[in-house]
Amino acid sequence: MNPARTSVHGARTGIGRAHAKSILLGEHAVVYGAPAIAVPLHALDLTVRVSERADEQLHLRSALFTGFAADAPQRLHPLVTAIHAALALTTSAPLGLDVEIDSAIPFERGLGSSAAVAAGIARAIGDLTETPLDPEAVHDVVMAAETIAHGRSSGLDGRAVASDVPIRFRAGEVTPVPVGAPLTFVLADSGHEGSTAEAVGAVRELRETFPSRVDGVIGRLGAIVEESLDRFATGDVPALGALMDEAHGLLTELEVSDATLDRLVGAAREAGAAGAKLTGGGRGGCVLALAPDAARAAHLETMLRDAGATRTWQTTVETA
Ligand code: MEV
Repeated sequence: MNPARTSVHGARTGIGRAHAKSILLGEHAVVYGAPAIAVPLHALDLTVRVSERADEQLHLRSALFTGFAADAPQRLHPLVTAIHAALALTTSAPLGLDVEIDSAIPFERGLGSSAAVAAGIARAIGDLTETPLDPEAVHDVVMAAETIAHGRSSGLDGRAVASDVPIRFRAGEVTPVPVGAPLTFVLADSGHEGSTAEAVGAVRELRETFPSRVDGVIGRLGAIVEESLDRFATGDVPALGALMDEAHGLLTELEVSDATLDRLVGAAREAGAAGAKLTGGGRGGCVLALAPDAARAAHLETMLRDAGATRTWQTTVETA
């Protein structure tokens, strides 16, 4: 037996890591077949450690769950689904596990935490069973969990947390997005949880009520993604910022922004951001601002915190 996969008590152990993601453009529209662009957030990651138990039970431990109260079993269900999906792909023997999740990814902030947890679980169980899962198998595990966590999802989060480079995603198809010059973004946490499932459901209802208006907005959000590709390729910061500003206005029309997100977007623009928008499902969660250059990102962070952001992060987007 590989000693690296054995705890001091002799039980087999495994480790899996995964990072967060941010959607630069195209969220919500992507659910209806439009393209979207997402980037890896390497600075925000998590580690899942699994170790075999003698009693065939599942025990989950994570600071992620300290806020969970009466609805805990329901909320944990995607994780349990991910564990069973990963076990089904790796072992036919019944296996009890201690699962410990150590995550720096804020939960329910539109940063892909649920997809990242499922990817980490898949990789950790593959490591423990010495049956490493290939990217497609990890993706299958993530999608099994995401379907429960988010209901009808585009599949974008599952692909984004598995990619180390910016991607364009459309209807399950993934292509890398070349970036001509490093771009520095600042993420700001509104401090409010945002349920992606609820936000996606609200857009669906809005579309049922106002089909042509909502389809017009979705069409324009998709067109913005296609227009942005040239701007990424040339590193055209002002043009990308303008597209982000327009996208935020369109997401507001879809009623997925809120007063806090609008305030942070306004503060980012006043502080000199090239553009700013909500990112992810919205109705809580985070705002993403494009810094005019790397040197001014710290100032942007300070101004966003002054405007009420509970946390901020910088991330540089570049082609690997
Ligand atoms: C959530 O990160 C992104 C949404 O577009 C939902 C989805 O793509 O499934 C809001």
